[in-house]
Amino acid sequence: MMAFLPLLALYLLAFTEQLGADPVEDVIHFTGIGAFNLLLISLLITPIAKKYRQGYLLQTRRLVGLYSFTYALFHLLNFLAFEVQFDLALFFDEIIDRPYITVGMAALIILLSLAVTSITAIRRKMGKKWQKLHNGVYLAVLLISLHFFWSVKSDIVEPLIYVAMAVFLLSLRKDKIKRWFKR
Ligand code: HEM
Repeated sequence: MMAFLPLLALYLLAFTEQLGADPVEDVIHFTGIGAFNLLLISLLITPIAKKYRQGYLLQTRRLVGLYSFTYALFHLLNFLAFEVQFDLALFFDEIIDRPYITVGMAALIILLSLAVTSITAIRRKMGKKWQKLHNGVYLAVLLISLHFFWSVKSDIVEPLIYVAMAVFLLSLRKDKIKRWFKR
């Protein structure tokens, strides 16, 4: 639950007009970065658990992943509510016209499919397919890196740091990823 406190604080500040000159931009940035940070943390858990042989850490992956999805959902809701005022036609135009929104939406759909299938009963039913689907998180992390990179207008240092972190986390899984391409 603690991971939701910053989100609560954000909306309290936003609705009491205590954010900066552009509160819409602030909430979109905060939730976007929050979602990305949590996703990267979820991808850091397995390598750390393996290296230090702390298997119990693996149980935390689902929760951190779900937190990431929740932040991403708020990110989308903020965009829908404050940028396009729930005008769905305009929203679909944005998905088509702006590549960074296209890839953001694709990433969100992947995260949604992972969140839904993380329910234990569904996970059991899916058997081996579950792991295959969940490997989609690697694609999601690449799409989000691209989304972040394309969304900024000038200062590319921060997105580049994030891209580097994403590539690093994927490089730790290079053997697994190579195996897919060989098949
Ligand atoms: C569902 C579709 C999505 C929409 C419509 C959307 C929309 C946006 C918008 C409007 C911005 C701000 C661009 C600007 O500064 O002008 C943004 C930035 C960002 N988004 Fe998204 N996004 C989506 C999905 C995602 C997802 C799934 C993630 C991560 C899990 C994400 C992470 C980010 C990050 C990290 C930023 C940069 C924040 C910053 O500049 O500090 N977005 N997004």
